[in-house]
Amino acid sequence: MPIQVAPSILAADFANLQSEVELLNKSQADYIHVDIMDGVFVPNISFGIPVTEAIYRHAKKPLDVHLMITNPDLYLEAFRNAGASVISIHLEACSHLNRSIQAIKSLGAKAGVTLNPHTSVALLEDSIELLDVVCLMSVNPGFGGQKFIENTYSKISRLKDLILSKNAKTLIEVDGGVNLENAPRLKEVGADILVAGSFVFNSVDPIQTIADLKAI
Ligand code: DX5
Ligand code: ZN
Repeated sequence: MPIQVAPSILAADFANLQSEVELLNKSQADYIHVDIMDGVFVPNISFGIPVTEAIYRHAKKPLDVHLMITNPDLYLEAFRNAGASVISIHLEACSHLNRSIQAIKSLGAKAGVTLNPHTSVALLEDSIELLDVVCLMSVNPGFGGQKFIENTYSKISRLKDLILSKNAKTLIEVDGGVNLENAPRLKEVGADILVAGSFVFNSVDPIQTIADLKAI
């Protein structure tokens, strides 16, 4: 299966959000990755539900909403109504992961769980079969433009082993510091979806950069 690419709108020009979304519509992007930060779970604030709705109004690609927030259960329905196709919550923010996953699915969205760099994939041993996506953070969440953490490669391999051992259909997403240098190896060890923010939006030709990532 070709790699899927999810450009992160966090790196876009927020003063020209409509044209940035339209640019992604014209590209080979598979999703638009939407980073929600609450200033509590992560030390930064991005944007919330009304902006997600505004993105959705112009988007021709499904929204992959990454909730970097505490108490995600309180906002699942709001983000689903705002247009999320995939909703990813952080394992570290959930006391009742199974309940949260069921809640996302009952809203008709795909369910994702994201792990911080220090969180072991072994913690998903009893929930992997329920998950459509597991997103591995390859930077500490909160900011775009950070350096890729090399340990991610072995983490992907361990996650892939877990998925295969349970005969699950879960996709592996990697988020943070992704570029054309690390993308081929990420794909090789088992990544299915690559999130890329600054590498796409800071490039001279974002549409071509997305095509280059798709072509690895
Ligand atoms: C980080 C976000 C990422 C980020 C990726 O907290 O979850 O999605 O926007 O940006 P780059 O690709 O610049 O690391
Ligand atoms: Zn993200």
